[in-house]
Amino acid sequence: MIEKAKLIADRILSNEKVHIVSHIDADGIASASIAYRALERAEKDVSVEFVKQLDGNEIKKIKGQEHPLVWFTDLGSGQMSSLKGMNCVITDHHEPENDSEPTEIKDRGNILSYCASIMELNPHNFGLDGAKEISGSGTTYLVAKQMDKENKDLSKLAVIGAVGDLQASEEGRLVGMNRDILDDGVEEGVIEIKKDTTLYGLESRPLHKVLEYASDPILPGLTGDESSCVNFLVENDITLKEDNDWRRWHDLTKDEKRKILSELARKILSKGFPPENVTCMIGEIYILPGEEPGTMLHQAKEFSTLLNSCGRYEKGMIGLKVCLDDRDEYLKKAEKLLKGHQKILVDCLNYVESIGVEERDFIQFFHGEDRIPDTVVGTVAGMVLSSGDVDKKLPILAFADSEERGGVKVSSRGTKRLVDNGLDLSSAMSECAEKVGGEGGGHDIAAGALIPEGKEEEFIDIVEQKIGSQLK
Ligand code: C5P
Ligand code: C5P
Ligand code: ZN
Repeated sequence: MIEKAKLIADRILSNEKVHIVSHIDADGIASASIAYRALERAEKDVSVEFVKQLDGNEIKKIKGQEHPLVWFTDLGSGQMSSLKGMNCVITDHHEPENDSEPTEIKDRGNILSYCASIMELNPHNFGLDGAKEISGSGTTYLVAKQMDKENKDLSKLAVIGAVGDLQASEEGRLVGMNRDILDDGVEEGVIEIKKDTTLYGLESRPLHKVLEYASDPILPGLTGDESSCVNFLVENDITLKEDNDWRRWHDLTKDEKRKILSELARKILSKGFPPENVTCMIGEIYILPGEEPGTMLHQAKEFSTLLNSCGRYEKGMIGLKVCLDDRDEYLKKAEKLLKGHQKILVDCLNYVESIGVEERDFIQFFHGEDRIPDTVVGTVAGMVLSSGDVDKKLPILAFADSEERGGVKVSSRGTKRLVDNGLDLSSAMSECAEKVGGEGGGHDIAAGALIPEGKEEEFIDIVEQKIGSQLK
């Protein structure tokens, strides 16, 4: 993989002008930022654009712009045959397209020779798992590192991307190539690895809010109930305020943290939840020591949420500026977008609660219509699946109108256990979407599609059959 990264780096460096095309989520923004900074350091003329999905229309538009070289980051592998004729490189981690392609380019080797003007770095071509061993920003980083060893500091962005794509293992740690990238970050002094709780908001949220908003795992009697969270902390002798400021998790002493976690564990187990709900509360957290403690930028997980709040509202460039160290105007803009993002998520979750989730034998689903934006329906699907309110043994499908793209957006999410039992949402989405005249792809555990309006019922039926046949 490193040799291939070197070949791609050389190809990029032989061009003076490079156009980056990336995905709108945290991993996509982190990827574009790595590519941008590496190109800037190599004194190249750089431009960037973010796309929701690399569909036929987008590809046509990009081809029409006649860029001397396009660098696709965190996307491209699923659409390689459509990129034919374009001078481009791809650093991605999505499952590459397969036998759904035209017969003359059926196998991967043929696709590669058919698309001679394209160079691709993708873990799936090296027998690695693109859902957990390396992200789009990871593959982009491998190339950036080959462009110049000085780019090793960009490993921190690759860690933010991997964390944003939920690539941590069940033990709450990055593994595989992500681990090597993490080691680069530690060596460069841009990342610190700590063992702590995996609950969200350790830097930016008041302590009781960390408990109130906990969703993975659910904290029985606490999640969603602010006053119970306050009481719980007070009963455990935790001081909530210091000099009139709410204390945050990162302000606590080791003993205070230990006490809270052991009481939470006791609560979870006494309510009959499985021991995994306790173990998944502990894992590695990745700190960015160059950032100010107590801000969202100090921990990779929170940083990635900030990026998602930008990209999913067509403001990927704001996220990119924050990744590239803007700590004034653009950080403020990103923080404002975050507030909006959080409110939208709460509204969407309430909407799903009001309409309910329908169950079939092998899948469950809901339709967000025009009430859930197509850019966040995947996030909402993931939150609903881990909410404890639905059956975790069934993968979830979520639909949302996508007027702008003239169809219905589908997001699907599974669990590690389902994947171990044979679930592959990527092939389910790409094959079933194609059968109803749409297109899809992604990873085994999380994938998406765009299908024609009115085809939802038919799509649900064939996905149900397909997933039934996948599961052991
Ligand atoms: O396009 P990209 O590969 O960057 O996005 C991966 C998506 O898969 C993210 O939205 C991430 O949240 C989702 N995912 C998930 N559960 C996992 C792994 C990834 O929902 N265990
Ligand atoms: O859009 P959503 O978050 O549901 O996507 C889940 C995963 O599937 C992401 O990695 C996304 O890039 C991928 N995807 C894809 N092709 C599509 C839609 C989504 O590869 N048509
Ligand atoms: Zn990604």
